[in-house]
Amino acid sequence: MIGRLNHVAIAVPDLDAAAAKYRDLLGADVGQPQVLAAHGVTVVFVVLANCKVELMTPLGADSPIAGFLARHPGGGVHHLCFEVNDLDAAAKALIEGGARVLGAAKIGAHGVPVLFLHPKDFDGTLIELEEVKPEFEPV
Ligand code: CO
Repeated sequence: MIGRLNHVAIAVPDLDAAAAKYRDLLGADVGQPQVLAAHGVTVVFVVLANCKVELMTPLGADSPIAGFLARHPGGGVHHLCFEVNDLDAAAKALIEGGARVLGAAKIGAHGVPVLFLHPKDFDGTLIELEEVKPEFEPV
């Protein structure tokens, strides 16, 4: 069902400081901040050859990552995002298999549908699934 690892998301208390570390200390290709109002976060993508790192910080008082950062004030790994070809089919199969899908699919940071799976069903790790177009399928 899942294909490539699309990104690892890290919740950070200071987005500019985190982006600067990846750019200046690690020498990575670091993008500009993107405000994702529908998701309650501001993100910066770090583009690696084989994957991305999504640095994200809360946007607004009811940000879905505010609680996570309250528990991890220094920041921490928040979720892993795997690519799937058909998000609806993946959700159906996962629900049939007993996994909990959190809410409905939304348009994610890359303009494609995403959904999240309950961390308690995946060993304490929040999983995001992102639908990719067939031309981006792993070969
Ligand atoms: Co993500």
